[in-house]
Amino acid sequence: EKGGYEHYMRKEIHEQPSALRQTLAGRLDVDGGDVDLDVSFPPGFLADLEEIRIVACGTSYYAGRYAAQLFEELAGVRATVEIASEYEFGAGRTPDRTLVVAVTQSGETADTLGAIRRANAAGARTFAVTNTLGSTVTREVDGTAFIRAGPEIGVAATKTFASQVATLAMLAVAVGRDRGALSAADARSVLKDLQGLPGAVQQVLDEENQVREAAREYQDSEAFFFVGRALGVPVALEGALKLKEISYDHAEGFAAGELKHGPLALVTPDTPVLAVLTEGARADETMNNVTEAQTRGAPALGCVSAGEEYDTLDVSFDVPDVGIVEPLAANVYLQLFAYHVANEKGRAIDKPRNLAKSVTVE
Ligand code: F6R
Repeated sequence: EKGGYEHYMRKEIHEQPSALRQTLAGRLDVDGGDVDLDVSFPPGFLADLEEIRIVACGTSYYAGRYAAQLFEELAGVRATVEIASEYEFGAGRTPDRTLVVAVTQSGETADTLGAIRRANAAGARTFAVTNTLGSTVTREVDGTAFIRAGPEIGVAATKTFASQVATLAMLAVAVGRDRGALSAADARSVLKDLQGLPGAVQQVLDEENQVREAAREYQDSEAFFFVGRALGVPVALEGALKLKEISYDHAEGFAAGELKHGPLALVTPDTPVLAVLTEGARADETMNNVTEAQTRGAPALGCVSAGEEYDTLDVSFDVPDVGIVEPLAANVYLQLFAYHVANEKGRAIDKPRNLAKSVTVE
């Protein structure tokens, strides 16, 4: 059932092009510059919307961090992200002008369900983005969009992260179009990026040997730091989470600009820095921060937009040009890196110690 793969995780990483095609199937109206997600809101609700608040945990929280930036940019609406276990409706907000969006692969995460119940109790409109038909969350919200990634068996989320972000990007376009915040031409350009994503992810997967080599070279490092800016931040955080979960190595993600405000003290020749250096991630500024780490002896690995070059990098991974979802393609390199480091170490990749696929306790 692993289809010839040694681990579900590697199978699911490789399924991303087809999972993403499923996510997008029949939902993009590229010519018309709109999407059809089959979701509806009360008349005038989106026009009057004050804030989108995303609640989620773990990898889904990072998908939410990516999406919040898209909602602000494409839908012209304030968007914030809250770790579900910390979420409270809070002061100074208007319940009937707030949309609370739960992002949850399983639809069963207790912390996320708790957040949705608090949002419902406050009178906010609620929405779920999930992979799981009939899951608990779908019964507790006002509307749902399914990510259609197919079942994910590996405890570490991979293909569902990509499909969550793609679904949320479509939702951002839909909201932006409805609110008149996004022109048809700008929408079209985002939809073309989305359309190109499955092929771009395939191109990244085709470079797996390069990633395996890098994993072999750096696997014994003391710690791993992941950095990015803008859309690169959630990807850096997700890259670090993936590596720590399955390799048990110390890995941390930062906004690249924060390196110099503390974490730089940890940087040595034995702590590689992995950077997201793509479109949407303020690559040149990020590279300046990477250089600060290199000055302290750290090796630097970068996921770089095709056609760009940072010749001081120790390893450079090419990311195909897919605009606003380029950092999502870069993330696939980080998934492969985590996988191969863990695999070299013989870890229990599909069932890491102490972790469960679905966390049903608060
Ligand atoms: C990480 C991972 C977890 C989940 C988190 C939320 O690889 O899988 O961090 O993302 O437990 O789970 P869902 O999305 O099911 O709510």
